[in-house]
Amino acid sequence: MARRIRGHVSARTEVRAGAERAGAQAVVATDVVRRFGDRVVLDHLDLTIGVAELVVLLGPSGCGKSTLLRLLAGIDRPDGGSVEVPTRRAVVFQADRLLPWQRALKNVMLGLRGSDADARGRAALAEVGLEGRERAWPKQLSGGEAQRVALARALVADPELVLFDEPFAALDAITRLKMHDLVRELRRQHHAAMLVVTHDVDEAIALADRIVVLGHGRISAEYPVDLAPRERAVGAAREGLRAQLLADLGLAHTAG
Ligand SMILES: Nc1ncnc2c1ncn2[C@@H]1O[C@H](COP(=O)(O)OP(=O)(O)OP(=O)(O)O)[C@@H](O)[C@H]1O
Ligand SMILES: [Mg+2]
Repeated sequence: MARRIRGHVSARTEVRAGAERAGAQAVVATDVVRRFGDRVVLDHLDLTIGVAELVVLLGPSGCGKSTLLRLLAGIDRPDGGSVEVPTRRAVVFQADRLLPWQRALKNVMLGLRGSDADARGRAALAEVGLEGRERAWPKQLSGGEAQRVALARALVADPELVLFDEPFAALDAITRLKMHDLVRELRRQHHAAMLVVTHDVDEAIALADRIVVLGHGRISAEYPVDLAPRERAVGAAREGLRAQLLADLGLAHTAG
């Protein structure tokens, strides 16, 4: 099932069904314009994300990453162009946004209907490694655990598209690495398309099937990342890609 979020100036009016979407794309954003006052943040941007593809969106602060993510989430509308996204979407933000007055399980079950909601919530918590923590209050969880609950909450409704806005930026380095492994594992199991927004080059290389760089309101560069897990951590291919991405971001290549 696809839903088209149209901008004011979009000429196209039809909503194509999922099966008809060209090349099994989960996301088709075409000629997207978003401006705030005089400031054009997204300037005729095109982006597609394949079904079950994990795309990392990289760009400097203020370049429009969250703006694009909000359009894909359906929280905001473009001023021009069109955005076609699946019906079942979930968003994971930097802050876990858990309800402090609900236990972990209830936080995961928010929005779920049906007699199997409890079982599905428990299964989702187990999937992110939090079996046994169902009755924990958010304040009793570490930052990484709370973000795992947020991940479980995003995945429990079986989304076709998961949007992440700097989901691990607040976590320490080791926890972040574990979360990268978890996200790639969950992606394999759920077969969902994912867009991860970050300004961390190493995170991009760790996670992506494809890295897209946002610059001057458009996708200014893109790189398929066809590397084995170990090659993402060390080696010439990784270093070459890292240097290229840093150059794209206008940063000098620094070792380490
Ligand atoms: N609702 C809004 N009203 C006015 N300006 C906005 C609004 N939302 C975003 N902007 C502006 O649009 C630009 C892009 O913002 P956005 O939040 O998308 O950047 P970002 O790439 O996510 O940055 P960061 O990496 O710091 O999160 C910024 O200049 C911001 O001030
Ligand atoms: Mg942002």
